Order: sequence, then C-alpha cells, then structure tokens
Amino acid sequence: MKEMSLPKDFLWGGAVAAHQVEGGWDQGGKGVSIADVLTGGAHGVSRVITDGVQPGNHYPNHQAVEFYARYKEDVALFAEMGFKCFRTSIAWTRIFPNGDEHEPNEAGLQFYDDLFDELLKYGIEPVITLSHFEMPYHLVKAYGGWANRQVVDFFVRFSDVVMTRYQHKVKYWMTFNEINNQRNWQYPLFGYCCSGVVFTEHANPEQLMYQVMHHQFVASAKVVKRGREINPAFQIGCMIAMVPIYPFSCHPDDVLLAQTAMHQRYVFSDVQMRGAWPAYALKEWAQKGYQIVMHPDDAQTLREGCCDYIGFSYYMSAAVHAQASGVEDPITGFDGVVPNPHVKASDWGWQIDPVGLRYVLNDLYERYEKPLFIVENGFGAIDKPNADGTIEDDYRIDYLRAHIEEMKKAVTLDGVALMGYTPWGCLDCVSFTTGQYNKRYGFIHVDKHDDGSGTFARSKKKSFAWYQQVIASNGAVL
Ligand code: BG6
Repeated sequence: MKEMSLPKDFLWGGAVAAHQVEGGWDQGGKGVSIADVLTGGAHGVSRVITDGVQPGNHYPNHQAVEFYARYKEDVALFAEMGFKCFRTSIAWTRIFPNGDEHEPNEAGLQFYDDLFDELLKYGIEPVITLSHFEMPYHLVKAYGGWANRQVVDFFVRFSDVVMTRYQHKVKYWMTFNEINNQRNWQYPLFGYCCSGVVFTEHANPEQLMYQVMHHQFVASAKVVKRGREINPAFQIGCMIAMVPIYPFSCHPDDVLLAQTAMHQRYVFSDVQMRGAWPAYALKEWAQKGYQIVMHPDDAQTLREGCCDYIGFSYYMSAAVHAQASGVEDPITGFDGVVPNPHVKASDWGWQIDPVGLRYVLNDLYERYEKPLFIVENGFGAIDKPNADGTIEDDYRIDYLRAHIEEMKKAVTLDGVALMGYTPWGCLDCVSFTTGQYNKRYGFIHVDKHDDGSGTFARSKKKSFAWYQQVIASNGAVL
C-alpha cells in the first residue's frame, strides 16, 4: 500500500479561544463579556449566568490561564512543537468594550498586533474566530443580544475594524464558533454563549432561535463580503460543532429520526455554504406557524456571502432510537439519543468515535465540495501528575492518534480536501461547558486548579513530544 501522505502545506496546530485562555478580563480597557459573568461549574453542576459581575462568585474566565500576560512564553512552546498555525479568537470586548461604540480601543488592537507578530515571527499562521462565546455583556443588557437586529451592524463594524487592521497578518478567519450549539435552545448556556439570549425566558423560544440564527447568518454573510473587499486572499469559514447522529439500527424509523436530527445541524452549514435557507427549514416554519422577520435584501446578502470553507469541531458521535423519542439528550440536545454500545465515553459522557471523524469528513465534503478544516478535536481528561510533576497522558495520545489515523484515511483514500488540524485546548484552559480547570486537553500543562491553587506555570506533558514528531513527520509517525 502506498504511503498515505498529507499535503505538504497541511496546517498542523492547536486551538483555543480568547476568553478561555487570556484572563486580564479588565486589563487594557477591555469591557465585560458574557464569559465574564459565568461562574465555574463541574460535571453535572451547571455554570450560573449572573446579573453582572457579582462579588463573592468564582468567575474562572477572569484569570483563565493568563495568556494575556504570558503569550510570548506560550507561543515559544507552540513553535517548539512545530505549529504551522494557531487558532484563537479576538475578544470583541478588547476592541469595542461595550460593543456599540464608534471608535475601537487602541490598546486592545495593539494586543492582537503583538500576538500576531509573535506568531508570525515563528512562521505560525493565525487562524482567527471573530465570535467565540464572548460578545460584550452590554449588548445583552441594553439590546437583548442577537435577538436584536442592531447587533448585526455592531458585529460587522467590529469585524471590519479587525479584518482591516490585520489584513496583512491574518489570512484565515471564521465568523461564529459552533453557531449550531444554540439549536439546543433548551439549555441556557448554549443560547447564551452563542448569542446572548436565554431562549427559555421567551414566549416562543424556538421561533426566536430561528430569528437569532437569521441575524447571525446575515452578519456572517456581510462579514464575508466585506472581508473579500479588504483582502481577496482571505479565507473565511463558518464553524459548526459536528456531532454525527447515527441511527441506532437499520429500522427505517431510526434512520429517518437520524436524518431529521441531522437537519438541525446542517441547517447552519447549508445557509452559510449555499447561501439560502433550505426547504426543510421553511417547511418546518410553515408547519409551526413561525414568522421570521427578514429584510428585503437579506436573500441576496446570504447568496453573496457564502463561506470559503467549513471549520468544524469533532469530539464525539451520538445515536438515536425511534423508541426513545420524546427525551432530549443534555449533551447533544437531540431527541431520542441512546448510548452507542460500540463506542466508549469520556468521564464527561462524550462518546469517543474516531471512525466518526472519517465519516463526517466524507459527509461534509460530499454535501458541499468545499475545503474542510478540523479546528477542534481532543480529549478532556483529569491529568494526574507523577511525584516528579511529569504527566504521562497516554490516554490523550491514544485519542488523538486514532482520530488522526481516520483523518488521514479521509484525505488519502477518500479524497477529502482538508486544510488542517488544530486540536482543542493545546494549552490547558478553562472548560467552556463546566468552567473547570481540571478538564484538560493540553499538550502544555498549566498549574492551576479548581480549588484556586496553582502558579500558572507551564510544563510539557508527554503528548507534547508526541505531537511534535507528528507534525515533524507531517502525520507519518503517530
Ligand atoms: C467546543 C468549544 O464546544 O468545545 C470550546 O468551541 C470548548 O470553546 C470545547 O472549550 C470543549 O468543550 P469543554 O466544555 O470540554 O471545554
């Protein structure tokens, strides 16, 4: 069998988001973001959304892992691993502290100039998400978040400013991180983080969710259009959380339930990649009597603002059984989810399924025939240091190796066009869903713990050297 080589320019790297690593929540003129009012939780203990920053609460994102102060040390470690790219986000509140100002905050702009310069010094391409669960809190309090169409203009202004400023430093962009999480509108954290809306507090939550989605789709399309004017070489992607939903069996009812469930995911990439709401969504609205307010030129805006590539996260798969219908799964948000007896799960109940990655790569590529980018994948685990402080995270290496093997098959055997691979949380960071430090993904350990202890010192886990040789061999040595 021939060597299964990945393209020479394959973008190996790692991913984080501003609010999960930076800290410095009130430094450099930064405003309060929605992540700044989220308390720390645990597996089975929800994070609480507080009314502003309330004394006495633990807000892990305020300090996160101090990347804001220590980024040079971290970037040097990324370079040592051989990163070709690094995915992070720009905290909107560093640039527009309240979100509705007309003039940006220069100190915030300068921070990202410095960060990008540091990355480029080592030949590391920045891959930038414009909105990763960290919109200005003021836009939620004063405008109602993305339920208000005015937020479209604020987001376009923010995006315009940063795409213009960094046009010679950043080529790869994404508009909204895991935009489809809010499809799971029953769970406050998801709607809140995607769009600043707690859907369950509204009379018709599902209709409102579609309205919010429409606003974000229009915003995304406008940003894509504007980005192409600023620099035609930009590559601007969408970003979805890709959890494939398998039918539990070949019973036609299971197959149909899985297909219907996947519409809830594809509707996001369909609009952003094809430029129009799909027929199944329009029919759903008609059946449910939903009225989604659209402006006359929105259809054209969506058509003209299709994304260049599909960025996606992949952590797990799920299975649905028609007989279990009526119960929604708290992790995936889908109806009729049952455990898949053929795969194992992490300590947080995320079902580990490397073959599922090959499946979704094929599925997405066949559906859109556009380049794909795996911008998150990884294994959240509790790392237990040895007496000398070293961490032998073989479980993480095993997880990543198995997924990279399947990724290689999708590229070399199936012909999928894949731009790169950036495992999540390359540097240990604050968990999004639980707000924990102890749910770790990194190659780089950060000495910080949920009991408040720790020095924020960085150290290399066993997976650091492993990933280094993966990159050096372009995926040949796993
Ligand atoms: C994705 C998000 O949902 O998964 C990240 O884009 C998040 O922000 C990651 O951190 C892993 O989830 P968690 O809850 O384990 O941090």
